[in-house]
Amino acid sequence: MELNIKKLKDQALKEIDGIKNSEEWENIKNKYFSRKSGELAKLLKDIKDVADDLRPKVGTMVNEAKEEIENALEDKMSKIKKGSGDKLERDFIDVTLNIEKYKLGHLHPVTQITNELEDIFKSMGFMILDGPELESDYYNFESLNIPTWHPARDTQDTFYIEAKDKLLMRTHTSPVQVRAMQKYGAPLRCVVPGRVFRNEATDASHDHTFYQLEGLMIDKDISITNLIAVMKELLSGIFKREVKVRLRPGYFPFVEPGFELDIQCLICGGKGCPVCKQSGWLELLPCGLVHPNVLKAGGIDPKKYSGFAFGLGLTRLVMMKYKIDDIRLLQGGDLRFLNQF
Ligand code: PHE
Repeated sequence: MELNIKKLKDQALKEIDGIKNSEEWENIKNKYFSRKSGELAKLLKDIKDVADDLRPKVGTMVNEAKEEIENALEDKMSKIKKGSGDKLERDFIDVTLNIEKYKLGHLHPVTQITNELEDIFKSMGFMILDGPELESDYYNFESLNIPTWHPARDTQDTFYIEAKDKLLMRTHTSPVQVRAMQKYGAPLRCVVPGRVFRNEATDASHDHTFYQLEGLMIDKDISITNLIAVMKELLSGIFKREVKVRLRPGYFPFVEPGFELDIQCLICGGKGCPVCKQSGWLELLPCGLVHPNVLKAGGIDPKKYSGFAFGLGLTRLVMMKYKIDDIRLLQGGDLRFLNQF
C-alpha cells in the first residue's frame, strides 16, 4: 500500500509537470481528484484493507500525497495564466484607468503652530503633556481655587455631562497643572497643548471649541522674571525677531499676582495702527505666579516651591499670525479656507 501511494504521487507530479494548457490541466485534475473514479478516491477506498495498527500512518501518507499533488496543480495553473492568460490577468497595473491625481493634504494651521511651539519648549527642557477633555468639576474649577460659589465660574460656562460625579467639557487647559503636579511633583516644567470648550453664543471672536497651550514651571525661587525670560524666548522663536513685552495686572483665581502679557504690535512696531487699535500693544496671554492653594492641591509645599503659569490661546495666535478675522473659520472645515495654509 505504501509503495502504491508513492508511485501514484510520482506519476501524478510527472504528469502535472507535462501539462501545457488549461484543458490538459482540467483532465489531469479529474483523473486524480474525481470523487468517484479519481485515483485518490480509489486509494482511499483501499485504506480499509490495511491492518488496524498501520492505518493511521497510511492515512497520513495519503493525505500528504494529496496535498502535494494539489499544490503542484495550483502552481501549474498560475504558470498557465501567466504564460497565455488574457491581458487583464497578466497585467495587474491597468495603465488605461483614469484616476484623478491624489492630492496630498497638509497640517491644520493650529497643528502647525502647536508643533512649532512644542519644539521651542522642548529646547528649554519642558515636557509636553496631555489631559482629558472630559474633566471633573474638581480639576477644572475646585482645585484651581474656584469654588462652586465663585463668580469666575460665570465667565467659563461650559457643557455639563449628566453623571454621578460632576463631569464637564474642560473650559481651559489649566486643570492639567494640578494633574501634572500630582503626577510629577516639583521641580516641574511642562506645556499642555489642547482643545477646550465653552458654552458661547458664537460670533467672529468667540467659538464653543478652541485651542490653548498651558505652560507651567515650578522650582525653588521662581519669579515673574523667569516668566518674562521664557516668554521672550518663545516669541522670538515664533516671530523670528525680538519682541517687546509688557505686563498689566489681570485677575485669575489660580494665580497671585496675575497678569495680562501684551506684545508690542508687530505691524506698526508700537507706533499705533488699526490692528492694535492705535495702542501700540497686542494682548497675547494671561499669566501669573501659581497660587499657593493650587500648589497645595497638587501636593507641592508652597513654602518650598513657587512657579509661574500661563495660558496661551493657540487659536488666537494663529489668527494674529495670519490676520484671520473670524475664529469660526478655523473649525469650519471649509477647504477654500484651509488650503491657504
Ligand atoms: N486658564 C485661563 C483661561 O483659560 C488662562 C490662564 C492660564 C491664566 C494660566 C493664568 C494662568 O482663561
